[in-house]
Amino acid sequence: MSRDTELFSKQTGRQLSRIVYSREEIRRRVVDMALEISEAYDSEDEILVLGLLKGSFIFLADLVREIQHPLQVDFLVASSYGNSTRTSGEVRLLYDPEASLSGRSVILVEDIIDSGTTLNRLMPLLEARGPRSLEICALLHKRVAVLDREPRWVGFDAPQEFLVGYGLDYSENFRHLPFIGSL
Ligand code: IMP
Ligand code: MG
Repeated sequence: MSRDTELFSKQTGRQLSRIVYSREEIRRRVVDMALEISEAYDSEDEILVLGLLKGSFIFLADLVREIQHPLQVDFLVASSYGNSTRTSGEVRLLYDPEASLSGRSVILVEDIIDSGTTLNRLMPLLEARGPRSLEICALLHKRVAVLDREPRWVGFDAPQEFLVGYGLDYSENFRHLPFIGSL
């Protein structure tokens, strides 16, 4: 058993089926993505990194610390589920970023893209605010979604399994794990 699977069983009393991305793998990929992002923008671009809560909080925190470009950070909370567990296909903004998007180079940071519903509904809302550019940066992409706009940066093409850790939750649990595992 690795240190990480041991940590998981100790903290949760459950067995993780496998570690999909170790903390070292995630670390290396995040540094590379940050470099690509840094190179994609000119010095006069005003970057606004917009984190989609809650899932992106750890990824965003690691990512922005490696980006070699001045930037600002804000968050938004979207819910596509209303009161039910089944998707209604509608996105509500439960928290709207305070920052103005107008004329800014906006990077929307998402933890994982599954069905793509959240992004497909959210992007037109953000586009309507007149950003100079709007790109998606996703840590994980299950490659099953039909997206109106593909993310410009993707960390890993993820397996079609339920993943937890590094921000990803199962019923609000496991977000704090420093690696990503499959339940
Ligand atoms: P989508 O709208 O179906 O693309 O859903 C995206 C959201 O669903 C993500 O931001 C996650 O919060 C959640 N999600 C999708 N797949 C997983 C998973 O494997 N583990 C944990 N959360 C997931
Ligand atoms: Mg979630």
